[in-house]
This record gives sequence, structure tokens and C-alpha cells, in this order.
Amino acid sequence: MYQAPRGTQDILPEDQPYWEFVRSTAADVCRRYGFERLDIPLFEETSLFVRGVGEGTDIVDKEMYSFEDKGGTELTLRPEFTAGVIRAYIEHGMHTRPQPVKVFSIGPAFRYERPQAGRFRQFHQLNVESIGEQDPLVDAEIISVMWSFLEALGFGGLLLQLNNIGCPACRPAYMQALQDYYRSHVDELCEDCRRRLERNPLRLLDCKATGCQPLIAGAPRSTNHLCADCSQHFARLRAYLDELGRPYELNHRLVRGLDYYTKTVFEVWAEGIGAQNAVCGGGRYDGLTEELGGKPTPGIGVACGLERLVSLLRQQERPVPPPQRPLAYFAYRGDSARLAALRAVEALRSLGAAAEIAFGDRSLKAQMKAANRSGAGWAAILGDDELARGVAVVRSMRDSEQVEVPLGELASWLAARVTQP
Ligand code: HAM
Repeated sequence: MYQAPRGTQDILPEDQPYWEFVRSTAADVCRRYGFERLDIPLFEETSLFVRGVGEGTDIVDKEMYSFEDKGGTELTLRPEFTAGVIRAYIEHGMHTRPQPVKVFSIGPAFRYERPQAGRFRQFHQLNVESIGEQDPLVDAEIISVMWSFLEALGFGGLLLQLNNIGCPACRPAYMQALQDYYRSHVDELCEDCRRRLERNPLRLLDCKATGCQPLIAGAPRSTNHLCADCSQHFARLRAYLDELGRPYELNHRLVRGLDYYTKTVFEVWAEGIGAQNAVCGGGRYDGLTEELGGKPTPGIGVACGLERLVSLLRQQERPVPPPQRPLAYFAYRGDSARLAALRAVEALRSLGAAAEIAFGDRSLKAQMKAANRSGAGWAAILGDDELARGVAVVRSMRDSEQVEVPLGELASWLAARVTQP
């Protein structure tokens, strides 16, 4: 028997109210902050991610779904949105629009990771980017749009983690300090960290191995090595967050798993949703547009993992809007009554209401059970007697009260019952 590929999942009709709530809340909050929707392809040229996300990152080295298409082009299913969004920004000359260009996207992303609670190979992100402005007020706005989204979903107990990892002016000296420190402790390092020390020293701070924790605690901090520009940027962002009353925790270990970040980086953590507890992550990427062939252009963005948010909604027992129920269910006895019911159900649907009709040759009793199960507010019952008199019986499913309604008015009579009984 076939099964969904490892690390993927079906989102069944009964799961959809959660997803619909998350998606519609995302779109609503993004619009409140002036972000417009941008949809980009599910796959891009492989080199876009290699250059954008960076060689030496787990994503590029181990996790990309890459393939050659029949024309010989090397393509990769998007492991994230930012590189594709910047490609679109450059390709469509968006630097000529009013800056910053503020866009959001919602859709699947793909990473070949080891599946576990909260970690999938196909997952969904809400991705939000603000491109073309370096003002730290933009950083505050990105953090705010994300935080408002989480608040609108009704979550409590989330932690905003904040750091600043410097820019090309101050990062090299910090890297040197970090490497000098770690080189003097090389015997105490785990296998992975020995490799990181040469390839990607910032990631040393992200090591999960127990033996490396005391070293991380004593490691030089990026925020003590910032240039004047980064330092001022960080101070202003923090002042804006304080002004907004958005609590955050300074976390000098927060370095993120993608290479394009400069200055501000942040994540939001939640307890109890599995090994990976980050629900959102993002930061500034002032060098990325140039790296991908555009003019030097600052930018900042964030992505939230929707599977993790849905699982938090369930875990925190947050109420979500219930699925839509039909306004009416059409039951009938006899062939001509079936035809009349068919015409009436279509007429009601064309008036914009949701309506269901019975199928098969079931007894009226079985049809009424089905009406009940459907959650319909009303049952319209058509039989030969009623047909002969040109009426239908309409029963309120709440209190079983019945009225007769002329067939010609049945659809409009029901459609007028906007509030269900
Ligand atoms: P990221 O931290 O790699 O950042 O991913 C953002 C969020 O996506 C994570 O916090 C997590 O909730 C979710 N996520 C990532 N991988 C998985 C997975 N395998 N299964 C389930 N959920 C996952 C980025 O992707 C950046 N592009 C964010 C960004 C936008 N930075 C600037 N702009």
C-alpha cells in the first residue's frame, strides 16, 4: 500500500479549520501592516540557493531536493523563500518602486531533514520580507507584524530571542576573536565543532553537544564586537521594541542557519512542540541582493513554520472558527421529487448558500439522519403529496418545527434564513 513520502503529511478536511484560521489570520495581519502578497515558483535554479543560503550551511550541503530537468537545467525545490523573493525583486526591477517593497508569501518549502515531531520534509511557511530600507524601524516593523500574527492566533508563552551578528565591516574581527578563542580550546571540541571552526565559525555558538556548552558560555559575543553603525542600529531597534512593549531576550548564541544574515537576527520559541521549538525565525540580509546580482539593497524578513503553529493551536486548545455547515439539506421520496429537489438545491447554491442533497435510494429516515450529520440548519423534504400541492416541507433541525413553503419560493425562502436556526 502506498503511503505519503516520509516527512510529508496530508492535511485532511478535519484539519483544515486550523489551517484556514492560520492562513486567513496571516493574510489579514500582513495587510494591516501594508504587506502585499507575492507568489514565487516552487523551484528555482539550484545555484540561487547555493549563493543565497550559502555553501557550508546544512540546507545547501545536506537538505536540498535538487534535480536536473529534461532540458538539463539544475533545479531545486525551494528550501526557503527569501532567495526566490530577492530573485523576483531583481528580475522585476522592483528597486524602481517606492521602497521598502513589502511582500508576504504562504506556501510549502522542502528540506531533506530527519523527520521528527515538528520537523518535516515538506512544510509550510508564512514568509514576510521588507526590501530596500535600512532604517531599524523596518526591523521593528518586521518583528511587530510577526508578533501581531502570533497574538492574533491567541498564543501565550512565546519568547522572542534577539541578537545582532554584525556586518562585513565588523564581522571579520569578531570571527577572528571567535576562532582565536576556540583554537585555544580545540581539544575540548566535538567532531562537528572542529569542522565548524574552519568552515563556519559562527555556527560554533549553535552546537547542541553537552561538552561544548561551557565553551559557548565563555565565547566572545558578537554584540561586544559591533562597529558603530551596527551598534547604533541595534540600540535603536531595542528602543523601538521597548517603546512597543514587546518583550525580548538578548541571546548571544543566536546565529541562525542561513549565511545571508547581517546585523539583526531573531527567533520566536515555544515550549513543547518537539525537538525543534522555533516557530519563527528571521533577520536582516543587507548583502543578499548584491550577492544575487542586484544593486546593493538592504532587506529584512521573517518566516514562520505553519505546521508548528497548527500544532501549538491544538496543544494550547485555542478555539478556531468551525468549518462551514450547509444551510439546508434536501431529502426526497420518489423520482419526480428527486428532480424537484435537484432543481431547488442548485437554485439555493446559485444564491450563494451551501446546500446538500441526498444520494442513492435511502429511506427518508436514513436521509434525515444524514441531514443531521451534515450539520445543516434546515431540511427541505419533498414527497409526492407535497409535489402535487406545489410545496415542500421545511424542518428546522434545531427544534423540529415544520412549515410548508411553495416550491417556487423554496430557494429564496431558505437563502433569506441567513442566521441558521
Ligand atoms: P528558518 O529558520 O530556516 O528561516 O525557517 C523559519 C521557520 O520555518 C522555522 O522557525 C520553523 O518554524 C520552520 N521550519 C523550518 N524547517 C522546518 C522543517 N523541516 N519542518 C517544519 N518547520 C520548519 C528561513 O527559512 C528564512 N528564509 C527566514 C527569513 C525570511 N529570513 C529572512 N527572511
